[in-house]
Amino acid sequence: MEVFHTLEVKHAEKFYGQFQAVKDIDLAIEKGEIYALLGHNGAGKSTLIKMILGLVKPSVGIIEIEGFNYDAKNKEIKKRVGYLPERMNFYDNLSAWETLTFYAKLKGISKERCDEVLEQVGLSEARHRRVGAFSKGMQQRLGLAQAIIHKPNLLVLDEPTTGLDPIGISELKEMIRNWNKEGTTILFSSHNLNDAEELAQQIGIMNRGEIIAQGTLAGLQDRLGLPTKIEIDLSIIPVDLERILIEKGVETFHFEGKTIYIDCPKDKKTQIIAAVMDGVLKVKDLRLEEPGLDSIYQNIMKEAASLVNY
Ligand SMILES: Nc1ncnc2c1ncn2[C@@H]1O[C@H](COP(=O)(O)OP(=O)(O)O)[C@@H](O)[C@H]1O
Ligand SMILES: [Mg+2]
Repeated sequence: MEVFHTLEVKHAEKFYGQFQAVKDIDLAIEKGEIYALLGHNGAGKSTLIKMILGLVKPSVGIIEIEGFNYDAKNKEIKKRVGYLPERMNFYDNLSAWETLTFYAKLKGISKERCDEVLEQVGLSEARHRRVGAFSKGMQQRLGLAQAIIHKPNLLVLDEPTTGLDPIGISELKEMIRNWNKEGTTILFSSHNLNDAEELAQQIGIMNRGEIIAQGTLAGLQDRLGLPTKIEIDLSIIPVDLERILIEKGVETFHFEGKTIYIDCPKDKKTQIIAAVMDGVLKVKDLRLEEPGLDSIYQNIMKEAASLVNY
């Protein structure tokens, strides 16, 4: 039997008139993964997501969900995908319960399942209150409830953390992790690097309609060759510290007070630590910091900007 990716996008492009919002995108998500699509406003994230949802027709390219494509198997796909748009529009005068049972009826889902889902998103208590009086965070929870109600295999969330307060964000992340543990594959977009760093196994960085870098955090770090930072606290500073470090093969470093700061190529990390710890220096403490998504993102954006020539 042929095994399909949960989502596969091949050479997808989108033109609005002369303007190209999405450029030649290839992307595959495996079952059980969490994939974060990162990028500034206007990068093309929502357009790509709407193409994946079948709401915008690609000008060029193929989109397949569990091996089905929209031309032939629209209904099959709808059953498999749940979607939280950037902005949900609810009827202000309906309660959360009325709203959710409305969506459930459209999808042929039982009322018992509505109870279960309201519980999962933390809206059980507020179920009979008017949606018009809900905070942004509560509306977002209701949006999530309708996205997950039919137990989709692929859950697509467009900027789910935007507009939420820090507690709302951490609760949302917890829900995403739980659904993922139950087997749901997740694609979400964000312009917040923390969201991706904490949740996603795969990260795609979008800029001007293109995915300019894609992979795991460690993979992106390797590709960019960003250094590991080593901080070493000494109890005594020898007068010839600089010479000692150079002899140990440490190339990029500076010191402040009794702390040495070293930028070290990833593949030389253990070698340099061993050399520093050989007893010549009186080492009190040592800390390692791998480059985070923040520096990866900055570097990729810089690289992309240097390739654009007008
Ligand atoms: N329906 C549309 N018609 C014309 N241009 C559009 C349309 N939708 C989006 N765009 C343009 O496409 C680009 C990408 O938009 P979008 O996908 O919403 O980006 P993001 O979600 O990353 O902020 C923007 O320049 C936007 O103005
Ligand atoms: Mg958007």
